Amino acid sequence: MGLQVQITIVVVQSTCLLLALFGGVNTQTRLANPVIASTPLVPELGQNLTLHCNAPAGVNVSRFSWLKNFAVLVGNEGPSISLNPLTKSDDGVYVCLYFNENNSQSPESNQYDLLVSPPDPPVLEANPPGPLFQTSGYVYLTCKTSGNNVQTYFFRNGVLITTQTWSTYYIYPNSRSLSGNYTCSARNSKGQSEPSNIVKIIFVGKFIY
Ligand SMILES: *[C@@H]1O[C@H](CO)[C@@H](O)[C@H](O)[C@H]1NC(C)=O
Ligand SMILES: *[C@@H]1O[C@H](CO)[C@@H](O)[C@H](O)[C@H]1NC(C)=O
Ligand SMILES: *[C@@H]1O[C@H](CO)[C@@H](O)[C@H](O)[C@H]1NC(C)=O
Ligand SMILES: *[C@@H]1O[C@H](CO)[C@@H](O)[C@H](O)[C@H]1NC(C)=O
Repeated sequence: MGLQVQITIVVVQSTCLLLALFGGVNTQTRLANPVIASTPLVPELGQNLTLHCNAPAGVNVSRFSWLKNFAVLVGNEGPSISLNPLTKSDDGVYVCLYFNENNSQSPESNQYDLLVSPPDPPVLEANPPGPLFQTSGYVYLTCKTSGNNVQTYFFRNGVLITTQTWSTYYIYPNSRSLSGNYTCSARNSKGQSEPSNIVKIIFVGKFIY
């Protein structure tokens, strides 16, 4: 019993020692993260934008690497990239890294989230799919948008019915006036999208609510 306890303590201690050793070695050889800075600071659609990848002082960088939406931007090995002029297709998440003189790779920089345009028009889908909807159940409308941090707007016959941060709106069929042409659109900090496709909803049957 006593022996078992002692052995356990020795194992735990040596594991800690190993962790401490390797932890120490790792922090010494690990290269510091680069940092992306932009000129201008707040880019707008149509402007020229330059992103700079700043390696820590004192490192001899052999080359840089740039990624957009987690894919390498082939042919960009310099410390900066220029997006002249900015278009909608430039929107995305940019990351850079560098290689030192021994070709060791740095960790990734901060994520630079470029957003210069409103979202693409969303796709509106009904569940159940219709085209005729029974009055005995809910109809779920889902406004499928691309991009993060969007607000969703739902319209019936062109009139705004709700603004929300989530993408599903449900219709509780208690009135025939809820039949109509539904659309949605999405808004981010750069503006509102064009409207989605139209989903035509016609309630049939007796209203039970
Ligand atoms: C960078 O290169 C210079 C010149 O070759 C050298 O003196 C210096 O030690 C290098 N620095 C690092 C961090 O390797
Ligand atoms: C934007 O970049 C283009 C191409 O590099 C250049 O011709 C133009 O003069 C730049 N515009 C401004 C306002 O700097
Ligand atoms: C690069 O490799 C050489 C030879 O192994 C070594 O002396 C030097 O310290 C390394 N430089 C860096 C920045 O790790
Ligand atoms: C709904 O859209 C159809 C065309 O898709 C149109 O004929 C109809 O008038 C619209 N209904 C309303 C209420 O706007």
